[in-house]
This record gives sequence, C-alpha cells and structure tokens, in this order.
Amino acid sequence: MFKVFSFSVVPCAGVVFLALGLAAPSLGQSEQAAPVEGLTTASGIYTEEQADAAESVYARACASCHGDKLQGSGNAPPLSGFPFTSYWTGKPLSELMAALHRMPADNPGSLTEKQYANLLAQILETNTFPAGDTELPADEAALAEITFAAPAK
Ligand code: HEC
Repeated sequence: MFKVFSFSVVPCAGVVFLALGLAAPSLGQSEQAAPVEGLTTASGIYTEEQADAAESVYARACASCHGDKLQGSGNAPPLSGFPFTSYWTGKPLSELMAALHRMPADNPGSLTEKQYANLLAQILETNTFPAGDTELPADEAALAEITFAAPAK
C-alpha cells in the first residue's frame, strides 16, 4: 500500500519538473531578443569624440551650403530638425550614409570613411540622439542594422 503511493508521486513530480524545464528557456529567449532587435539611433550608437572630431571637417566642407548649425540654406536642405528627421525616421542609417557619400556636392566622395562616420555622428548629435560608448561604424552592412528613430522632443 505505502509502496504504491510513493511510486505514483515520483513520476507525477517528474512530469511537473519537466514541464517547467521546457517552459523556462522559451520565456528567457523572448525577453533577451527584444533590445537587440531594436538597435536605433536612440541606442547610443556613436561617441562624443566622433561628433567633436567632425566639427572642423563640417566647417570646411559642408557649412558653406548647409549652414553653421546644419540648418540648411538655399538649395542645401537642413540636416537637423523637421522635415529632415521625419524623412529619415524608420530608414536604415546605411541610406543616410549613402547620401553623405554624395557630399560635399561640389566634390562628392572626397572624404575618408572615418570622416563620413564622424559627420554622421555629428548629424545624430545635432538631432539630439544620445552619444554612447561604441563608435559608429563606417561600413554599410553594420549601418544597415541601425534604424533612424524619431527623435525625442
Ligand atoms: C555645394 C553645396 C553643398 C555642400 C558643400 C554640401 N552639400 Fe550636402 N547637399 C547639397 C544639396 C544641394 C543637397 C540636396 C540635393 C541632394 O541631396 O543631392 C544636399 C543634400 C545633402 C544630404 C541629404 C539630405 C536629405 O535629407 O536628403 C546630406 C545628408 C548632406 N547633403 C550632407 C552634407 C555634408 C555632411 C556635407 C559636407 C561633407 C555636405 N552635405 C556638403 C549641397 C551641398
């Protein structure tokens, strides 16, 4: 009588334990995947140093058309605020980098990859996206993974 009882309890506990064991990993995965999936310009994807380093290049190669504060002038559109941000929101940063490579309009593609990455960082900083610890990469494949987010007000 006692033997039968203990036999019936052990397999039952085993089934409960197994069910918990199967459920736990799938819960853990969905919790971890969310932040990686959403890498955006709001995630701290450039460094302060990069944005600072761009200032002299911008002054020399861009400001004559786009203005001292990226506000735009004449045919050269603003590189900050509305409608710049609304146009780029939701698009991958690789597309904005491609637009940068067509610049400066009077000498397209004349800058180094590092200078273009720094200029992109400066544009992000001017549009109030936060700096972080990781340098913004110059290469297209990496930039294609980062989405331009709607800036915080
Ligand atoms: C000779 C004037 C001139 C210079 C210098 C110049 N740009 Fe431009 N830029 C333009 C004009 C005009 C456009 C709009 C037409 C186009 O996209 O080709 C433009 C467009 C852009 C765009 C695309 C904007 C958008 O929302 O589509 C970016 C980004 C940009 N410029 C960045 C730069 C940067 C960074 C520099 C300096 C390396 C620079 N430009 C230098 C005239 C200039």
